[in-house]
Formats: sequence, structure tokens, C-alpha cells
Amino acid sequence: MNPQTEIIDGLTRASACISPKYFYDAAGSALFEQITRLPAYYPTRVERQIMTTHGADIAQRIGTGGTVIEPGAGNCEKARALCQLIRPERFVALDISEDFLHQAVAGLRAALPGVTVSAVVADLTHAIALPVDVPMPRRLVFYPGSSIGNFDPPHALALLTRLRRLLDTDGVLLIGVDLVKEEAVLNAAYDDGEGITAAFNRNVLNHVNRLIDSNFEPGQWQHRAFFNAAESRIEMHLEARADTLVHWPGGGRSFVRGERIHTENSYKYRADDFVALLHRAGLSQTQIWSDPANWFAVILARP
Ligand code: AVI
Repeated sequence: MNPQTEIIDGLTRASACISPKYFYDAAGSALFEQITRLPAYYPTRVERQIMTTHGADIAQRIGTGGTVIEPGAGNCEKARALCQLIRPERFVALDISEDFLHQAVAGLRAALPGVTVSAVVADLTHAIALPVDVPMPRRLVFYPGSSIGNFDPPHALALLTRLRRLLDTDGVLLIGVDLVKEEAVLNAAYDDGEGITAAFNRNVLNHVNRLIDSNFEPGQWQHRAFFNAAESRIEMHLEARADTLVHWPGGGRSFVRGERIHTENSYKYRADDFVALLHRAGLSQTQIWSDPANWFAVILARP
């Protein structure tokens, strides 16, 4: 499905939705970077603490050299720290946001002289094709930030399976996973007082306007974020502040006041459940590192 068809299909469903992958235009990627620095948004900070505390142990288990592949690389900040530890020969950054990716990769090249750095624009919801010159032996797929949480469990399993296929028997996956915790902590992380997450959520409408030539007015939509305990996920929605009519060429739809567009799920796992998911994707021999409060896990798995 092309982006236009996919977006219109989501918007015209009885319960409207927009895929979270459309958050990441240049403005959305920059807003996400701001989110990662918010005190309330603990995942980035806690994952960094785990990587700092256990970095030597993690690096020792992975070994130096080889090729690091980072799906959803974003600003490549986490990869920079990892690459300083394991000193790979090659680093391949994959991301959906082209402009942002090229900028981040340029920064990484300067920071890691001697490492061959390449950028590949990739939509992880489809098959992942790497350039043919990426060596097969000793690959490390690094998927930090609990981005896996943005896929529902069947799609997370499908993505983990696609990532496992990038690896030979000597490859490893190092993945960050956000864990279930007190609801108030979760809710605050996705509805910060500074309104950055709200701006990030609303910005998806600017991106959609450009992609399908629609006339959403982001200011007319209220950010909603809450933990759905039954599904073990944070849900983000945009809620119409008033009755609204939205048009795009060849179509449109009306929303009544209070009606919502579902924009994101962020699943929170129990570590055991995530390890079981890895097993189902053909990844075993797992090692888990966590923080003292058990808020986040960094997991190493092998095919
Ligand atoms: C990218 N992803 C892991 C973030 C998350 O926590 O699910 C996206 C995000 N949405 C709102 N805040 C951050």
C-alpha cells in the first residue's frame, strides 16, 4: 500500500487511525529528539544508564569489530556510544526519515573515523534490503529505545523475524525493551507538562496534510495518552475539540467533537514475555540487563 492509500484507509475506518510511522517527518523527528531529553520520558535515560553501567560486559559478550546495523537509527546517538565500545568496521543506519538520517550519519562519520558508515532509507514494516556490500559475518543488529513497543505483538514478532533474517549463526541482536511499571510513571512519560509529546502527536497531522493534501488543523485536536492495562500498552490519540470536516482530493470525513484518531501504541512488556517472543522469532540464548527499578531491559539474543 502506498502512503496515500494507507493513510486514507486509516482515516476512513469507523475508528480512525494513522500509523505512527508518519510521526517522523523532519519536524517530528526533531520533536522526538526533544522528548528523549524530557525528565518525564524515562526510557531513553534509563536505557542509557543500563548501557553505561553494563557497557563493558555487553561489549565483551558481543566482541569487537564486525558490522553494526541499526534499524530506526534516528539521531544515531545510542549507536555512537555502542560503537565506541565495540569499534565495528562498518555501521549501517536504517531509518524512515531521509533528511534526518543523512544529517545524523554525517555526524557519526565525524565521530567515528575508521568506521565505514552508510545510511539506508527503510520502512521497517516491509522487507528490509541491505546494500549488497554489507558483510554477512559478525553482524550485530542494534534496536534500542523500545521501538519494538510501537508494533502490536503479531507485528513485533514479524519484525523480530525480519531482523533475525539479517543475521547469520554468528550474529546477535541487542534490543531495548520498555517494561510494565506503575501506571502514573507510564502516563506522565507520554503526557509531559511541557506539551512536547502533544506537539509531536499533533505534528502527524501536518505530515498527513502534505502527504494526502488534506486540511487538518492540528490546533483543533487535543493530545490524549493513557495506559491501557488490559492490552499492556500506552495509547496515543488525537481528539477533535469540535465537530470537524476534513477534506482531501477525492474524499473526506467528518469527526464529531470528542471523536478520536488513534495514532500510536507503545507496548510495555514483562521481561519473560518478551524473551518468549524472541524465542518464537528464532532468537534464543538471551542475556538481560536491567536498571535497579526494573523499568527497562536491554536484551542480547542469538539466532
Ligand atoms: C519511538 N518510540 C519508542 C517512542 C515510544 O515511547 O513509544 C515514541 C513516542 N511516542 C510518544 N513518546 C515517544
